Amino acid sequence: MQVSVIVLAAGQGTRMNSDTPKVLHHVAAAPLLHHALATAHHLEPSRIVVVTGHGGEAVATSATSYSEMVETVVQDPQLGTAHAVAQAAPLLADEAGEAIVLYADTPLIREETLRAVLDARARHAVVILGFHAKDPGRYGRLLTQGEELLAIREFKDATPEERAITLCNSGVVCAEAKTLFSLISEVKNDNAAQEYYLTDIVELARKRGLSAGVVLCPEAETLGVNTRAQLAEAETAFQARARAEALENGVTLTAPDTVFFALDTHIGRDAIIGPNVLFGPGVTVESGAEIKGFCHLEGCHVSRGATVGPFARLRPGAELAEDVHVGNFVEIKNAILDEGVKVGHLTYIGDASIGEHTNIGAGTVTCNYDGVMKHRTTIGKRAFIGSDTMLVAPVTVGDGALTASGSVITEDVPAEAVAIGRARQVTKAGLATRMFEKLKAIKATKAKGH
Ligand code: UD1
Ligand code: CA
Repeated sequence: MQVSVIVLAAGQGTRMNSDTPKVLHHVAAAPLLHHALATAHHLEPSRIVVVTGHGGEAVATSATSYSEMVETVVQDPQLGTAHAVAQAAPLLADEAGEAIVLYADTPLIREETLRAVLDARARHAVVILGFHAKDPGRYGRLLTQGEELLAIREFKDATPEERAITLCNSGVVCAEAKTLFSLISEVKNDNAAQEYYLTDIVELARKRGLSAGVVLCPEAETLGVNTRAQLAEAETAFQARARAEALENGVTLTAPDTVFFALDTHIGRDAIIGPNVLFGPGVTVESGAEIKGFCHLEGCHVSRGATVGPFARLRPGAELAEDVHVGNFVEIKNAILDEGVKVGHLTYIGDASIGEHTNIGAGTVTCNYDGVMKHRTTIGKRAFIGSDTMLVAPVTVGDGALTASGSVITEDVPAEAVAIGRARQVTKAGLATRMFEKLKAIKATKAKGH
């Protein structure tokens, strides 16, 4: 089935009380807009058009950064949801197949739900996604008769009897692309808000003798974000769903309520995630890896059998091969750790590559920044970096080489060599005792003086 998706993202979002356009506020470490685009992508559409307006350029940039196939159009001024969809007509009016309208501020609608909407097109020319609202508030009300949808009444225009209806409009609309744009061209703005309502196409379709119908989904999916409180609600709902999905997929979460996922987090079967772990964008954890408590991961890849943490931070570009061990208070950024590398304690590895089975001692630091530029550290296979080694990049340590504890390594170390870069130890017999006696005497004199 050929499908085009139109994502409405032009609204101002006044109630967010923000300088940031509403649809760029984050849920699960991704803009609301990307949630709508992710759902759209699951339908494998032929086209995706995002309608931008307020904060247009930033919204358009965010949209195209999600995927190259996303196209954008500007709606200026914003005269209502039908007017917004009409802006996509020049791009999509000749497109064959279905058109489905999503809102960028409604992040929780599931793929299965949209598939049910598409399936319902076999029975109705226009399909609306509806839900039973506990508190219908200002949602548009669905006026139905049996299976048939007669009209959608916007709250502002509804009579008290119509306002008592709890069956509401989610905003998702589906029709054949041709039909949708032709209906929209007839929408007028003679209503309380003087806006062009997308919802008017239901009555317009019926006037043409076309049928309209409703597909129902749980209210939780249709949560629209208009305020910061709803943004927080959406985050809570997203996390609850992501945790349940992870458990369902065979991931162990020892304390699910304390683990936070991003929209694009991938975790393999039989991975174990400890308490208080936070996933930023772009993380993949393969099957059987373990992330212990209190870790913070972002833009990284953790392979099979690797163990991370507790209290580790993996930043963008951290690539951990199989059976790598990263221990407590270790930070890794833009670095490739080959199979079996061990970085156990209190270490910073940045802009580096480390060969297989190399051991990095406690307190090692790759000194990657000279105040102006970043430089790389390259360490070979089966090397041994002694505790408290400072690797002043750019620098290379060869296969099987060893650096002595406490060394400041400023020159390349050949394979199998030992590099010692520290002052030679001086030992003075009895000096400690003499020093302490002297200090105690000073303290006693001072105490008398007071
Ligand atoms: C809309 C529906 C209402 C439904 C509710 C669900 C209409 C007329 N009403 O009302 O039936 O119950 O959503 O949340 O469609 N937008 C534009 N350009 C515009 C106006 C809006 O792109 O000119 C976008 C907004 O960015 C937003 C979406 O359309 O993503 C919905 O707009 P909003 O003003 O929030 O509509 P509601 O009044 O909530
Ligand atoms: Ca809204």
